[in-house]
Amino acid sequence: MQDLDSAGITEAVLAQMADTPDARLREIADAAVRHLHDFAREVNLKPDEWLAGIAFMTAVGQACTPYRQEFILLSDVLGLSRLVNVMHDVTGREAAGTETSLLGPFFREQAPKIALGDSIAKIGQGEEIMIFGQVTDAAGKGVPGAQVDVWQTDAEGAYDLQAHDPTVMDMRGQFRCDAEGRFRFRTVRPLGYMIPMDGPVGDLINRQHRHGYRPAHIHFLISAPEYRELVTALYFADDEHVDSDTVFGVSRSLVISPAVGVEGAPDPAVPSIRYDFCLSRETEEGGGRVGSDPSKLMPASG
Ligand code: BEZ
Ligand code: FE
Repeated sequence: MQDLDSAGITEAVLAQMADTPDARLREIADAAVRHLHDFAREVNLKPDEWLAGIAFMTAVGQACTPYRQEFILLSDVLGLSRLVNVMHDVTGREAAGTETSLLGPFFREQAPKIALGDSIAKIGQGEEIMIFGQVTDAAGKGVPGAQVDVWQTDAEGAYDLQAHDPTVMDMRGQFRCDAEGRFRFRTVRPLGYMIPMDGPVGDLINRQHRHGYRPAHIHFLISAPEYRELVTALYFADDEHVDSDTVFGVSRSLVISPAVGVEGAPDPAVPSIRYDFCLSRETEEGGGRVGSDPSKLMPASG
């Protein structure tokens, strides 16, 4: 019979979990228990606070749908997604490789396929811009046929998933680069936006007196055989929140400004951004995506 005081309980739980055959599960569960117990001891967690935490996590789960991932949003605003991204970059990114950024909750698989030079703004209206460049390897050699997914908000700061009918896709597209890894597409300038604030994560952000905004950006997911998938985003330099992103996605190397007269721009009259993306070689440790299409995280029904 054990008499478990506030220190002994941690040892007792670790002892019960000690025979976990999966070594990685054991490592993660052990660390989670130790840190959770330390956290409860540090703040001297009270019963009503413990229950409030459980109610909060329950609400986060209930806010999840095939179109919305409130748990990823929570991870984002707590900086956990950025931390996992940064650690993932340390194991898998070559020095020349483009920095990664958050996938976020608005990525969708099966985006409409577009031809090089087409616009991803089929419904959305606004100031037209063009983005062009090359997908290369670490030596600067083009990666032929690299597949690129792009997605962004419209000029009002809304994703298609937030529209009245979230099954209609707009402001997103998928294309293949040419034989030299070159690409170009048109779009409209996106607007920065507040993360979804009508759920428990928004309540938390409000209680913390945080502004809740992401600076204007365009997401990219780039893949090619034998290369590590690149999940990143380009951020507009003139957005007032570029230095205070609520979800900590911005890195200096990902900040851009469209301009007319950019050298090599396919249409010199249209404000353009040239950005070359550099892929890292795939390694055994370097794979995996920090994020998911929300529909893929729903339990299978039936
Ligand atoms: C996004 O950029 O789409 C995003 C990322 C994290 C939280 C909310 C939105
Ligand atoms: Fe976004």
